Amino acid sequence: TTNHLRHLESMATHPSGAGKIPRLNAVILGESLASEEDDLVFPSHDFSQQAHVPSPQKYLEMYNRSIVDPGGFWSDIASEFYWKEKWGQQVYSENLDVTKGKIKIEWFKGGITNICYNCLDKNVESGNGDKVALHWEGNEPDVDGSLTYRQLFEKVCQLANFLKDNGVKKGDTVIIYLPMLMELPITMLACARIGAIHSVVFAGYSAESLLQRIMDCKPKIVVTCNAVKRGKKVLNLKEIVDAALSESSQNGISVDSCLTYENESAMKKEDTKWQKGRDIWWQDVVPKYPTTCDVVWVDAEDPLFLLYTSGSTGKPKGVLHTTGGYMIYTATTFKYAFDYKESDVYWCTADCGWITGHSYVTYGPLLNGATVILYEGYVTRYSRKSLRVLGSVGEPINPSAWRWFFNVVGDSRCPISDTWWQTETGGFMITPLPGAWAQKPGSATFPFFGVEPVIVDEKGKEIEGECSGYLCVKSSWPGAFRTLYGDHDRYETTYFKPFPGYYFSGDGCSRDKNGYYWLTGRVDDVINVSGHRIGTAEVESALVSHPQCAEAAVVGVEHEVKGQGIYAFVTLVEGVPYSEDLRKSLVLVVRNQIGAFAAPDRIHWAPSLPKTRSGKIMRRILRKIASRQLDELGDISTLADPSVVDQLIALADS
Ligand code: PRX
Repeated sequence: TTNHLRHLESMATHPSGAGKIPRLNAVILGESLASEEDDLVFPSHDFSQQAHVPSPQKYLEMYNRSIVDPGGFWSDIASEFYWKEKWGQQVYSENLDVTKGKIKIEWFKGGITNICYNCLDKNVESGNGDKVALHWEGNEPDVDGSLTYRQLFEKVCQLANFLKDNGVKKGDTVIIYLPMLMELPITMLACARIGAIHSVVFAGYSAESLLQRIMDCKPKIVVTCNAVKRGKKVLNLKEIVDAALSESSQNGISVDSCLTYENESAMKKEDTKWQKGRDIWWQDVVPKYPTTCDVVWVDAEDPLFLLYTSGSTGKPKGVLHTTGGYMIYTATTFKYAFDYKESDVYWCTADCGWITGHSYVTYGPLLNGATVILYEGYVTRYSRKSLRVLGSVGEPINPSAWRWFFNVVGDSRCPISDTWWQTETGGFMITPLPGAWAQKPGSATFPFFGVEPVIVDEKGKEIEGECSGYLCVKSSWPGAFRTLYGDHDRYETTYFKPFPGYYFSGDGCSRDKNGYYWLTGRVDDVINVSGHRIGTAEVESALVSHPQCAEAAVVGVEHEVKGQGIYAFVTLVEGVPYSEDLRKSLVLVVRNQIGAFAAPDRIHWAPSLPKTRSGKIMRRILRKIASRQLDELGDISTLADPSVVDQLIALADS
């Protein structure tokens, strides 16, 4: 038994809880454990009683089965969904060990299904057609809308018919560059309905970043809108798409059509630049299509979507998720991590440009027939009495932020699901199950069903018990990504070669004496800014494209609001003087090439960078200088020129 199981077993069989199983609840445990642990937060008795997983005991039962018999566990759950044909004899097959051959993960292979069918048709047919699927709140207070499951179904069908009519077939890719309008999930679902692969590009990315993605996945169609308002500012999205499309066609990738939604409250049709023959107004054509559309049935292992994410080196990676396993995993994690009940109204603030918006705005909730709110906003002006469960994701939440979330937002009543996962994992991996066990502020607690996390040391050896190291996963789970689009080698090299036999997450992690997991942040050169994952290499290559920048090194520093901020050391071309204007234009180059969210918070002039004799930049030293931990620089004698460090310190506040 792994450590976390031992701890939960002790929770479940603790003297004050023993004999009360299966009615055992965390309140009882609370009284007994509180003396041992100062910082435990227990779900209320009422909450636990009504929860899907009401006790550690119940979790243990389910978790044990999911590990001992993954095939049986997941196929029981999968059977609750619609499959045109059931999967083959083998529920899953996997090889996570590079030393044994090609990395391969397959779930429910041979099973024929469609995720759009399971999100929409299934809910309409089971009598939920009039239930609200999406409530949308726009940027302006009076701009909003709702769609029932039936209405959503009809809109998705119309768009699916349009896509088919415009040559989009099973296996083709469609790029979606839209803000959080209802048309965004509608487009995702329409693609899924006809077996097309969607790739949503966050509508804060620049033309350059969009171009990179277009060049990589060669979409048949791009779907966008003319503009969006952020506060009072109007962002002309169509112009960004135009720039990317004209550049891509000059590079041999021409996209047939650009379907453009008129986002009237931000910009009128007349003011939108137009390319005849390529651009099509959504409102002119899509509503004319029939409101039903046959589903294209796909294999469980057929691709569902591509989502680009930053790595520590090179260009962004096209994380590929397939249909069946992803469907079952997002539906199940959604249900349990949020203790979802049919009458709940669910709101996730994430944008569909990120994985959270895929798994927990669109697919997970709709697969459960939930009512979803699409909106980004604030909280304390309104009554929060109806809140049941809070969630958090994307970066370590420190205990004081956790307390604020718990006390202020949740009125000290709602359990927090601090969910650890990644674009690559498809769904939650380590997460509290609200009601099942006590939480520790700042800890993602225990693994979800079917997930076997391990902590390994530098050499890739598993460490037991209380420890810190690299977070890996030992066996596959249905929601795992299957490859990096067009680059299976990079998939193996990045995720499976560092520690043979395991999936390597790129995160550091520790496990405490009770088996709780604590994520400590990336151990590679990836920075996490307000939950946006940004590779230092991407920012560096944007900076060095500036004609006056000779070299750049970027590190993450702690940031009070954003979690991490971007700190850039910049060496200028010889003879170029430092100036505020230059600083601004360096920041601008990053905004233009990646997006505003990747703009450096700080530019630190660097006459040169600290390098080893072999020319490798010593980022460890740069991190210490950036965070002004100058007495912790460590050994600098291996630098080719140790005097560089003093020069950098001297320029720290200039
Ligand atoms: O470093 C981890 C951090 O976010 C990374 C994944 O980023 P992305 O693929 O963009 O997905 C974000 C939404 C899942 C991870 O490698 N991270 C994610 N969740 C947590 C977290 N760090 C600490 N605690 C979490 N709950």
